[in-house]
Amino acid sequence: MKALILAGGKGTRLKPLTNTLAKQLIPVANKPILYYVLEQIVEAGIRDIGVIISPETGQGIKAAVGDGSRWNAQITYIPQAEPLGLAHAVKTAQSFLGDSPFLMFLGDNLIQGGVKSFVKEFTSNKVDALVLLKEVSDPRLFGVAELNEKGEIVRIVEKPREPKTNLAVPGVYLFTKDVHRAIDKIKPSWRGELEITDTIQQLINDGKKVRSHILTGWWLDTGKKDDLLEANRIVLDEFVKRDLRGEIDCTSQVAGRVEVGEGTGVEHSTIRGPVSIGDNCHIKDSYIGPFTSIAAGTTIEQSGLEHSVVLENCSIRNIERLSDCVIGRCSVVTKRGDGFKSITLFVGDDARVEL
Ligand code: TTP
Repeated sequence: MKALILAGGKGTRLKPLTNTLAKQLIPVANKPILYYVLEQIVEAGIRDIGVIISPETGQGIKAAVGDGSRWNAQITYIPQAEPLGLAHAVKTAQSFLGDSPFLMFLGDNLIQGGVKSFVKEFTSNKVDALVLLKEVSDPRLFGVAELNEKGEIVRIVEKPREPKTNLAVPGVYLFTKDVHRAIDKIKPSWRGELEITDTIQQLINDGKKVRSHILTGWWLDTGKKDDLLEANRIVLDEFVKRDLRGEIDCTSQVAGRVEVGEGTGVEHSTIRGPVSIGDNCHIKDSYIGPFTSIAAGTTIEQSGLEHSVVLENCSIRNIERLSDCVIGRCSVVTKRGDGFKSITLFVGDDARVEL
């Protein structure tokens, strides 16, 4: 059994962060999303892993994942020249996949509890494809599956106006080699992409056994800003333990499940967990509220921050209250102390400022 992680794509909905950083490397609770994906694949017993990369962000992915030895896995990078769809990514990986059955995992998805039982179900039942499904409140935004009484998928409809079920198709699938023949038969969709939902429908039309596995835990797609904050909230809530490695002075208060990394100093500040603060940060005269992740090398002074994700080497000064923020690497957010009520901005392409 092999695995294929899709870590290419454009990441348009997360611009400007994705102008310089692969979407799959954005941290959730201070760990890149892709690392959770790799951990879950290895935990399911798969070590031969192909990673689809794009020309724009592939180097960053390679630098962050390396040869996979950190996870005791073997990584093969597969460049996809253009993001022409999820099924196109599988097609691009055909020589890596060969005739092997494989687990396909979108590199920006997080699944509660991992994929071990999903993989086990596939290997013990002789099916041609096993598709993870998740009940959602608004299925109109997703590919939606219709099942028969045996739990087999009979139809998949992409973003239906009147969905027949609330079973969405997230980003984790298991296929046998039959998928390649199905991809050869499908045509690009109206958006010009080879769709994985069309591929699954083709397998069904060809009489293949396509079963479903309904996920009861959470599924987090980190493709948009609010989804990313929600993922950060849920992962911090579930995984962060109290672990204080830095220096916390006696005038500071640290309540609840808070991680403070090596070399980080906390002075005259209040931190209320769940919060994750990376290495070599400096927090002074500030309040850090629940569901906040602050990456390494960041300074926060005389500011309040909650329910936010701050990437590496930022500087935040004199801002009374920031919430629901995603702040990219090396950003400076500060208030001038000259008494004028004017706002001064120097922001890059695709930035979003809400005042
Ligand atoms: P999407 O989120 O559907 O696409 P995207 O990354 O281009 O994002 P946006 O819509 O904001 O522009 O992709 C899901 C995952 O699959 C993501 O990790 C990127 C990856 N992917 C590829 O590797 N190749 C592709 O051709 C596509 C479309 C996506």
